[in-house]
Parts: sequence; structure tokens; C-alpha cells
Amino acid sequence: AAIEKGNYRHFMQKEIHEQPIVVAQTLQSYLRPLEQKVALPDMDFSFADVPRITIVACGTSFYAGMVAKYWLERFARVPVELDIASEFRYRAPVLEKGGMALFISQSGETADTLAALRHARSEGQKIAVVVNVPTSSMAREADLLLPTHAGPEIGVASTKAFTCQLAVLAALATKVARDKGVLTEAEEREIVGHLTEAPAAMNAALGQDEAIEAIVPLVAKARDVLYLGRGPDYPMALEGALKLKEISYIHAEGYAAGEMKHGPIALIDENVPVIVIAPSGPLFEKTVSNMHEVQARGGQVLLISDGPGLAEAGDVVARIEMPTVHPLIAPLVYAVPVQLLAYHVAVAKGTDVDQPRNLAKSVTVE
Ligand code: G6P
Repeated sequence: AAIEKGNYRHFMQKEIHEQPIVVAQTLQSYLRPLEQKVALPDMDFSFADVPRITIVACGTSFYAGMVAKYWLERFARVPVELDIASEFRYRAPVLEKGGMALFISQSGETADTLAALRHARSEGQKIAVVVNVPTSSMAREADLLLPTHAGPEIGVASTKAFTCQLAVLAALATKVARDKGVLTEAEEREIVGHLTEAPAAMNAALGQDEAIEAIVPLVAKARDVLYLGRGPDYPMALEGALKLKEISYIHAEGYAAGEMKHGPIALIDENVPVIVIAPSGPLFEKTVSNMHEVQARGGQVLLISDGPGLAEAGDVVARIEMPTVHPLIAPLVYAVPVQLLAYHVAVAKGTDVDQPRNLAKSVTVE
């Protein structure tokens, strides 16, 4: 059957709003709620024997990989390498014997990622694939196939496939941690509990749609926009900037908050909106001090945080309130406001949201 937009104006908007449902669907196939455990498909090797994981992807899928690196190192204590597919395939990477290479792709057909996969296979790596199209080339060539259940994604700029990738990758990190013997049963139960709460928290994030629409004038008139985040929210800054570039054609950069003073701070003036992504938690104060550096130079801060964070942060030009969530699921939740912001800015600018100029849904040529 043809896929319809229903009551939505664009496929991208529909796909943003579908996220709580498709993330829940995806989690359903990776979580055993009764046992409070993670379950992955059967595999012919054990993570216990994997000394290193190499993650390779392009575009938004690459940012999901960045979050996965953070989780795999933190929870599973396994060394992780991460690269963009077009770099990986040509840089003669040194791959550890017995290692696993993990490829992340919505389409499963991106030419550079597929070539990187074949290279890793020829080097004897075990091949794991997180993919949204189960009949794709990458799915067929995997030793371990980890499907996302986002359903067909029509908007060229990826949204729901991304958060479903995050859901699968969180489950994967948990299973690797268990197999490596670095996660107690109680810790696994706790992680499963947090993941189970993700769809509702994403729903609450979607509830900020109107508040986000209200800040569009602050962003739509800008020539440059800066996004800042730390830790697993740094990839959300990159993703926010990518989304804005892709569909609104405004130049945007995502930066690690602590790195800002090594460059982008030179760009700050009252014409550069700075979107700070900072849930309360262990990294919050650090990011807030970077935010103050921006404000001291006249920068306009738009802060995306939760209740406790917003209360502590002081005066900002605009605030978007997210539900208070465990840091583990924050990337899934904070993806939503940056998608919505890019979407509404693009609508205000009158661009072709679902088919932005010069971009393709699936890049099957080099
Ligand atoms: C294109 C799309 C992006 C996507 C990237 C990677 O650039 O416009 O939305 O993130 O390809 O695609 P993949 O299918 O490999 O995830």
C-alpha cells in the first residue's frame, strides 16, 4: 500500500511524530520485559571474544555510531574505533584479529558503507549490521543482523531511523557488557527499565512542538547557528546542526561544548544563535560554564534541558523543556527537539522539506 502523510504536512513531520511508536516497536524485539533482560538474535560468535569494535557509517547513521561508542566504552568497557565510511575504506585501517566491525545504515545500500563492510570482511572481521531495510545488501552480508523497525522512511533527512538505531545500539551495548562480564544482573535490569521509559519520554519531548515553533524566528533569520553538547549529547549537537543544514540551508555547526573556545567562540556575536543541548546530570555544569562564555560575548543562547537544568542555568534567550530522564536515554529524547527545530525553521523558510536540494535518500554512488 502507498505510504500516506495522513494529517501531517510533510513525511518528515509524520516520521518525527512516529518515533515513540517505532522506537517502542524496535525495543520490543530487543528487550525481554519479564526477565528485564536484553535479547539479541542468535549469533555464531561471542562478544566475550571480541577485543575491539570498529563502527563505520555515514551521515546521521554515523552520529548514532558516535553515541554507541560512548555507550560501548562506558558500559561494556570494550575499545571502540569509529569512522566515516568514505574515510575508513581508503585509510588502510588496522583491524584487530577477532574484532567485530559494526555498520549502521538506514537504507543498507549506502555505497561507501557497503564498500567498508566488504573491506572489513576481507580482513576477517565479524560483521554486525544495524539496518532499517531487511532486504538490503548490508542485511544480506551480515554475520549479526540487528534490524531497526522504523518502517519505511520517506523524508530524505533521517529522523525515526536514527532514534531506532539508538535503541538497537543501547541494547547491543548492554548485551556486549553482559557477555564481557562487566554488567551485573541488577544493572541490566536498571538499563532495561530506562530503555522501556524512552518512548514515553520521547512523547513528552514531542509535546514541546509548539514551544519549539515559537523560537523559529530566532533561528530562521540567522546566517550561522552553533550547536553545543557534551558526552553523548555532543552527537546530538552534530545531528541538530546537520538537520538544520540539510533542510533549511542555514549554515550550522555542531561542536563539543568544551572545544568551543578553540575556534567557534571567535564567531560568536548577537547574530549567532547558540543552541545548547544539556540535560542535567554529571556533565551539566561544565556545559553551562561554556554557555556562560557564549553569553559573555553577546551570544544568544537557546537552551534545551530538563526542569532541574533550566532552573539552574539562569537567564537565556529561549528555553525548551525536556522531561527529566536517565542519561542513558537522553540522546533518544534530545534528538526530538533538534529535529523539530530544523523542521519548523525549514517550513518557515519555505524549503522542500522532504526532498531538500542536492540531497538523496540513499547515496548508492561514491
Ligand atoms: C543520506 C541521507 C541521510 C543519511 C545518510 C546515510 O545522506 O540523506 O539522511 O543519514 O545518507 O544513509 P544510510 O542509509 O546509510 O543510513
